[in-house]
Amino acid sequence: MDCKDFIASQIDAIRTEVGDGTAINALSGGVDSSVVTVLGHRALGDRLRTVFIDNALMREGEPQAVVETFRRLGIPVEVIDARREFLDALKGLADPEEKRHAITKTFYSGVFGQLVKNSTARFLLHGTILTDIEETVAGIKRQHNILAQLGIDPQKAYGYRVLEPLRTLRKDGVREVATALGLPAEVAYRMPFPGPALAARIVGEVTEGKLALVRQATAIVEEELADSGAFQYLAVLLEDRATGIRDNRREFGHIIVVRCIESTDARKAEATQLPWDTLARICRRIVAIKGVNRCLYDLTPKPPATVEYV
Ligand code: XMP
Repeated sequence: MDCKDFIASQIDAIRTEVGDGTAINALSGGVDSSVVTVLGHRALGDRLRTVFIDNALMREGEPQAVVETFRRLGIPVEVIDARREFLDALKGLADPEEKRHAITKTFYSGVFGQLVKNSTARFLLHGTILTDIEETVAGIKRQHNILAQLGIDPQKAYGYRVLEPLRTLRKDGVREVATALGLPAEVAYRMPFPGPALAARIVGEVTEGKLALVRQATAIVEEELADSGAFQYLAVLLEDRATGIRDNRREFGHIIVVRCIESTDARKAEATQLPWDTLARICRRIVAIKGVNRCLYDLTPKPPATVEYV
């Protein structure tokens, strides 16, 4: 089916399902939830409430950038400040799986779950794609059963419906639809970014101080490698520290790892052979961040490494 037909048929389907009711959706700024937001808005107008949940773990300026992109498209996005909830949930947790679990739980049973329960919306629009369904069935990903994740018993919550307009598409199809819907290329071809956001790039406990460091390093890496053509690039803050010298004084400083990979679907990856002067420039900028005195480039392929560190 061509993109225009797909868009028209999904808008029709959403209208038919929702009737004169209202719907709600959470926008992360990624391509899937962005496409769902535009389709839903075209179908329902202001009967769709779109929220962006600020979990304190986003990149520099990200909440504002997402709101601005959609404002330009005439779609209002409500920012929900949930920074405290997420930071509190992560306090004291160093184990990767415990951290991921705390974030999922805070999102679904906490912040977004409450929003959905307190709203009058009877429909939830969600950006599940075909790959998510396949990976769930194959046991690769944790379940994508949104109602269960929200702590909603479908029987008790009689009347609740989850609409998944992208469930027949893979990522390349979603990107095509995004372009056809007029989403800017930064959104349609956005680099992958993990659900746990910067928490996936801090080894050990997540604190506001560490988030500030990894956020600055991320901004540098993303700026320097924007034209690299690589599949994904990122910065990671290690839990270890190293001795260095700054202003003629010994300093026990933080260590940032830069990762940049070539891949087609993130299942396998190779480190990008970046030019030495690019690496040197990134290193100079990263060790200029106060408290950081080492910058390393990760050469490890996946497997055995994963892309993210957490
Ligand atoms: P790993 O670290 O597993 O990452 O090699 C593979 C790809 O998936 C992204 N990633 C995630 N994406 N939710 C997501 O939506 C997550 O929890 C998550 N964890 C990792 C990662 O950035 C890479 O592109």
